[in-house]
Amino acid sequence: METIEKIETKEKISAMPRIGDVAPTFEAITTQGNINFPADYVGKWVILFSHPADFTPVCTSEFITFANLESKFDKANCKLVGLSIDGLYSHIAWLRTIKDKIEFNGMENVEVKFPLIEDITMEVAKKYGMIQPGESKTQAVRAVFFIDPNSIVRAIIYYPLSLGRNFDEIYRALIAMKTSDAFNVATPADWNPGDDVIVSPAGTCGVAEERMTSDDELECKDWFFCTKKLDKDTVLDKILKK
Ligand code: BEZ
Repeated sequence: METIEKIETKEKISAMPRIGDVAPTFEAITTQGNINFPADYVGKWVILFSHPADFTPVCTSEFITFANLESKFDKANCKLVGLSIDGLYSHIAWLRTIKDKIEFNGMENVEVKFPLIEDITMEVAKKYGMIQPGESKTQAVRAVFFIDPNSIVRAIIYYPLSLGRNFDEIYRALIAMKTSDAFNVATPADWNPGDDVIVSPAGTCGVAEERMTSDDELECKDWFFCTKKLDKDTVLDKILKK
């Protein structure tokens, strides 16, 4: 097996964006017209995701699922943008086939209304580290970039070609990050709206002591691990569009 260093030298892979970076810029042709990224999305969250190829079964199941959830993401002020290393006409033909012929998990006649980027040159895929040559040199892996309203990359998920993504988890991650921003809290494992949230760790010995002794809204398992209640409606009222 080739080492990462050898592959990187051979393929001249550009640096991948990291959490906290400004999203790399690009202009692209999509199934919904041209886009200027991320400028066109300032003020909104965006999920930029790649898939290996049009007319493939796992990708088809993913597109049907994601398109079916689009209005839910829109309510959370989040736009979806897809990408694969296929041409525009392939994209259009595939999306038409999905709508006309494919049923998946009870979803049918599904129209994909979000933009799907054509990236035959792999320019965007390379900028975003979506080509991972150990997995495939010609197809993008299943990458998911969460980009916030200030165009900052906030989370990244990568899946291999054979593994369809869990879109409930993608939605949960979006809602959790929006909740962290809105309420200045962190979210524990498997958190969902309505579950207790984590308050930032005590930064001084005094605060650590206070947290263990005072009887306020916090529940502390120890000085470094304190949670508080955050009502589901309070969360959803604040982070979802009315
Ligand atoms: C698929 O979407 O079904 C797929 C694409 C590339 C490799 C393996 C599966």
